[in-house]
Amino acid sequence: MTTILGIESSCDETAAAVVVDGHTILSNVIATQIDLHARYGGVFPELASRAHVEAISAVVDQSMTDAGVSYDKLDAIAVTRGPGLVGSLLVGVNYAKGLALATGKPLMGINHLEGHVYSLWLSEPYREIRFPVLLLIVSGGHTELLLMTDHGKYERLGGTLDDAAGEAFDKVGRMLGLPFPGGPNIERAAKMGNPTAFKFPRSKRDESYDFSFSGLKTAVMREATVPHMGADGKKRGPEKNPKVRSDVSVNDVAASFQDALVGALVEKTVRAAKEYNVTEILIAGGVSANGVLRQRLRAESELPVRYPPLNLCTDNGAMIAAAGYFRFEAGLRSDLDLDVQPMWPLTSDTYAT
Ligand code: KG4
Ligand code: ZN
Repeated sequence: MTTILGIESSCDETAAAVVVDGHTILSNVIATQIDLHARYGGVFPELASRAHVEAISAVVDQSMTDAGVSYDKLDAIAVTRGPGLVGSLLVGVNYAKGLALATGKPLMGINHLEGHVYSLWLSEPYREIRFPVLLLIVSGGHTELLLMTDHGKYERLGGTLDDAAGEAFDKVGRMLGLPFPGGPNIERAAKMGNPTAFKFPRSKRDESYDFSFSGLKTAVMREATVPHMGADGKKRGPEKNPKVRSDVSVNDVAASFQDALVGALVEKTVRAAKEYNVTEILIAGGVSANGVLRQRLRAESELPVRYPPLNLCTDNGAMIAAAGYFRFEAGLRSDLDLDVQPMWPLTSDTYAT
């Protein structure tokens, strides 16, 4: 039995969890900062790091209490090392270093994207995953299509050239006057809207496995919001706080936007799964909570499609502990002078460092 404490602080959730053998969750504590950032319509980095400092010790203590585990029973401490906001990452990494020093337990720095991947292993009862699998990681900061051939073995097939999928949801949500974060609120509005009301462009219909969502975002802006006029009556560049046109249904725009974005993700994911002959398609990250994405992938692929339970799609400590378990088993440990990596792609090399 291997017991790992996982700590996550890369963005706007301070989270800690205790996980046994990479799949059994003993505790999973999350202090979200959504309310703190909502008034700015996005994550405010300085506020985020300060809130992490205030929350981290209580969150970690609570995760140990909930799990009923004392520090001497832990096998290792896993912490998100990057990618993410530098100030936020430092809070988690420094706290984890302190704990490792005080308890004498090994420390492991984890790639946040790899954490999202391992949220798929947190299933109860445990169901084995046979490699190779296709991974679609869709979060607020990333959109990555990867081939995973074994634990820690990743081959990047493509990704976004501009906005991440979650970022596009958040920006369009703001344009439509919906609360932050945009993703779940657009999904809710879309349920009451018509997905064929607007013909938004579906990004990059080409042979590559790359995505581009900025054209879609601009199309929504053009169709749905009041043009930004200067005092001289001429059109200006994009407005910072655009207003929705009075003759436009927010629900229809939300549904049509979601349809276009999900359509692009599904088309390339299904094609890559065929080309690389994988056993399953795995989706992870905040946007994998989206019901339309889940349904469409299931409908359009002959292969099994797996996604995490809703509470494990967005950032959490359990996924970091699960990723830590597989590193622990592989005998990989980090030094106590571990640094943070704000920009850190997920590759096979990442795994070994
Ligand atoms: O993985 P995550 O918690 O944080 C990052 O690592 O970035 O993802 C957060 C993102 C946000 O952009 C949010 O709008 C999006 O996930 N999201 C959704 C849904 N729930 C969260 N996007 C679409 N549909 C949802 N139901
Ligand atoms: Zn994330």
